[in-house]
Amino acid sequence: MESTVFETFESNVRSYCRKYPVVFSKAKGSVLIDQDGKEYIDFLCGAGSCNYGHNNDYIKGKVVEYLMNDGLLHGLDMYSVAKGEFIECLENKVLIPRGYDYKVLFPGPTGTNAVEVALKIARKVKGRSNVLALMGAFHGMSLGSLALTTERSARDACGVALGNVTHVPHPCMMPGLDTIAYIDMLLTDDHSGVDKPAALIVEAVQGEGGINVLSNEWLRDARALCDKHDMLLILDDIQTGCGRTGSFFSFERAGIVPDIVVMAKSIGGIGMPCSIALVKPEYDVLLPGEHNGTFRGFQLAFVAGKAAIEYMLAHDLEAETMRKGRIVEEFLASRLRLIDPSLTFRGLGLMWGIDMGSYPCGTTQKIRKACFEQGLILELSGREDTVVKIMPPLVIEDEQLVQGLGILMKVLAETVSPMSMSPVKQSLVNQVV
Ligand SMILES: Cc1ncc(COP(=O)(O)O)c(C=O)c1O
Repeated sequence: MESTVFETFESNVRSYCRKYPVVFSKAKGSVLIDQDGKEYIDFLCGAGSCNYGHNNDYIKGKVVEYLMNDGLLHGLDMYSVAKGEFIECLENKVLIPRGYDYKVLFPGPTGTNAVEVALKIARKVKGRSNVLALMGAFHGMSLGSLALTTERSARDACGVALGNVTHVPHPCMMPGLDTIAYIDMLLTDDHSGVDKPAALIVEAVQGEGGINVLSNEWLRDARALCDKHDMLLILDDIQTGCGRTGSFFSFERAGIVPDIVVMAKSIGGIGMPCSIALVKPEYDVLLPGEHNGTFRGFQLAFVAGKAAIEYMLAHDLEAETMRKGRIVEEFLASRLRLIDPSLTFRGLGLMWGIDMGSYPCGTTQKIRKACFEQGLILELSGREDTVVKIMPPLVIEDEQLVQGLGILMKVLAETVSPMSMSPVKQSLVNQVV
């Protein structure tokens, strides 16, 4: 297959394919394989959609079995065995053991659908249109969610004014500023100019925004602030959920209970499109048909989603994610200081970022390209794409994880000390890989 077919006939809007310009044909576990058989370790993980690995045998087995039994494939939002079993599994194996009481709402196949319905519910419950979001947030690309998303180029492209949202600084932006006190002031001062919001929406770790982690304390204070000002707390767990940060939900570590949790990506088990909104029963206010859509019941995603939860529990994936996260942390801590002591990194579970904001524009793009050429797929995030993102499948083998990190360290060392590498520097490069 020639890539010209895409360049000639596919829309110009295509994006990831420009960064990884080969034609992929297969994938297994933590490896993507192109049509020429070249293998790439996957630190992108479908932007968090393949937490349980590509073609996970257990999950795929359940899907194949369902297909071979002529299981219902399309059922609008009608009752089906596959949907019923998914809901039961989610309730009995995830929600009830954690003490959470949520209704499960199926808003559509993709993350932005879940964000849209969460906004719709919050606005209906509170009778207000304004919503608070954090600077650096990414919540999706349809108009409601795009109003929350901060990336300028995406906002500029939509062609209409985006409103009904007030953005407030993320605590990582101004460490000296008590952001909770700042929001409190905005909502208390009758001359702040900020309309009383229906909700505050946050990502416990900003994925596209540069791996910015909200502390447990901040999350707890945000919960209290929402109660004080009569707003709903919406937690966007689309990228951070399904075990990514070391627990099924990213906010468990803080002991808080959001009013609405939105999930997508890996909730579909094996890369199947699926999103859900978990809504406290008292906020389950939409009337039948007030949020309709043809693809709110993709049965294969339900089958795969149920199997994924079973797989996660059987393999103790939450603890495994924390263990592998420590491998990443120790690796970065020991190697980065040899390359450049000023380099910082941050993250949680298996979601990490190396901050290269102090390097010239274009450095991270060079790193991504060189990694790709050497068989490692990774993505950038944050302002000006200055954060190198490490987000492998949670099932990655330790050996592959270290191999991928080794490629990244080698490329980093070569990129930040280009051309005239002294023998001393060269020996450092040899040490870090
Ligand atoms: C935190 C977060 N929210 C929402 C979305 C939007 O999801 P989707 O692209 O499936 O619409 C994304 C996608 O990357 C995301 O990372």
